[in-house]
Amino acid sequence: MQLKLAVNPMGDLAVDALILPLAETGEKPSIPGALDASVISWVEELYTSGEFKGKLFETAILHRPAGLKARRLLVVGTGKPDKSADSELRQASGTAIRAAKKFSARSAAIYLADATASAVTAAAEGLVLGDWEGDVYRSKNERKPIDSVSIAVDSGADGLEAAVERGRIIAESQNFSRDLVNLPPNLLNPTILAERARAMATEMGLECEVLDEPRMQQLGMGSLLAVARGSVEPPVLIVLRYKPADGSASKDHLGLVGKGVTFDTGGISIKPAENMDKMKYDMGGGATLIGAMRAIAQLKPNLPVTAFIPSVENMPGGRAYRPGDIITSLSGKTVEVLNTDAEGRLILNDAITYAKRAGCTHLVDAATLTGAIVVALGHIYTGVFTNNEAFGDKLLSAAKRQGEKLWPMPLDDDFRELLKSNFADIANIGGRWGGSITAALFLKEFAEDTPWIHLDIAGTVSHDDGKPYASKGASGTCVRTLTDLALNW
Ligand code: BES
Ligand code: MN
Ligand code: ZN
Repeated sequence: MQLKLAVNPMGDLAVDALILPLAETGEKPSIPGALDASVISWVEELYTSGEFKGKLFETAILHRPAGLKARRLLVVGTGKPDKSADSELRQASGTAIRAAKKFSARSAAIYLADATASAVTAAAEGLVLGDWEGDVYRSKNERKPIDSVSIAVDSGADGLEAAVERGRIIAESQNFSRDLVNLPPNLLNPTILAERARAMATEMGLECEVLDEPRMQQLGMGSLLAVARGSVEPPVLIVLRYKPADGSASKDHLGLVGKGVTFDTGGISIKPAENMDKMKYDMGGGATLIGAMRAIAQLKPNLPVTAFIPSVENMPGGRAYRPGDIITSLSGKTVEVLNTDAEGRLILNDAITYAKRAGCTHLVDAATLTGAIVVALGHIYTGVFTNNEAFGDKLLSAAKRQGEKLWPMPLDDDFRELLKSNFADIANIGGRWGGSITAALFLKEFAEDTPWIHLDIAGTVSHDDGKPYASKGASGTCVRTLTDLALNW
């Protein structure tokens, strides 16, 4: 999809769909731009009849609008005016572009009356994200992508071109992550994930290093390697490095750690059949980081950022690790495996230790870690755990700016006794209650004093039923927030 800024009178936009965002203003619409009287009265009648109120996600279409070169006027609701911020505009833009795809539009424009740089970026993101489809594997796919979309503004204030470009980069990177997450497990194993990451790194000018099994053995990553044993697919640890051009202006070094389980059967502690297909999303944390690194490579923050993605397939093969096994992690800490389905924390702990030894001063991990976080926060919020409140707040502010829903969870040491092992330093599960908290506490044990945040994205990694602004499938959650965190360090 071509995306450009257009400083044209709205009447001149010869597109299949001219999108006009409108707020929920009661009976009287506030209609921006120069429109023909007949078009204005059409909009007014929509409001007075109650057919369209300006609520978020509402749409209505007028064909052959008088005085416009556009074939259709597509109005889209942005919700109550006090709430019509960038995040609503992002979602409304996505909703409108998906509505336009339903009638096979090939070109569109969105008119922004209040074209601040951040509004332009949000609209650009919404359009690119809304255009993404998850069902690319159908043999007959009639839905065509939109060829070109303009963001139409009254005057070309400084920086608006850059604002469009920034939105495009971020949203395309989020879509890059969604494409990876959506790959079925027969087409994505750890080796292929590493190849994809490497190809992206080469294209975007990042360093990429892939640690293979012998190297990990040499280093002593006994925890990660234990999980990998049940599969014929060899494990990898993918490392992507971004360095600011002028040496580092910052003494900080951000490390991102992402769970890359390309399929999670549960291993010997095997999962029930129902919904096991969803475990193809279990590399969503790793894909989030690959997407964020793709954006970071182009937007160039003033801070070194390194991503570490341990990737395995969790299978119950003949050489699989077992409940009762005691393994020695890279940190030297021993872990008693009580459930082979709590595998995410076992691959992450070695990656966290490795990231610390690589000089990272701050760590953020992203992982589809627990079903328990879905019980707590549903499919709406990502759970946030941290050992450093100030750092956690910094990330929560980034999430607010990006319109992503993240919610702080507790991480008290009171829960630590649940992870006591009879025979080793720590057990890999903490019993039934507070499962997302004991999982986070397990990771905290390896982060130690390094400021660290854990994002449990098990509930937010995908939209099973789709959204007005998003296709079914992977959501690309947290790509924008992590990119923002690095850019506004
Ligand atoms: N990948 C799962 C977590 C998950 C569950 C993600 C549901 C998305 C939806 C993780 O590896 C897992 O199996 N966790 C177990 C932990 C338990 C054995 C302590 C869980 O949540 O049941
Ligand atoms: Mn599991
Ligand atoms: Zn898992």
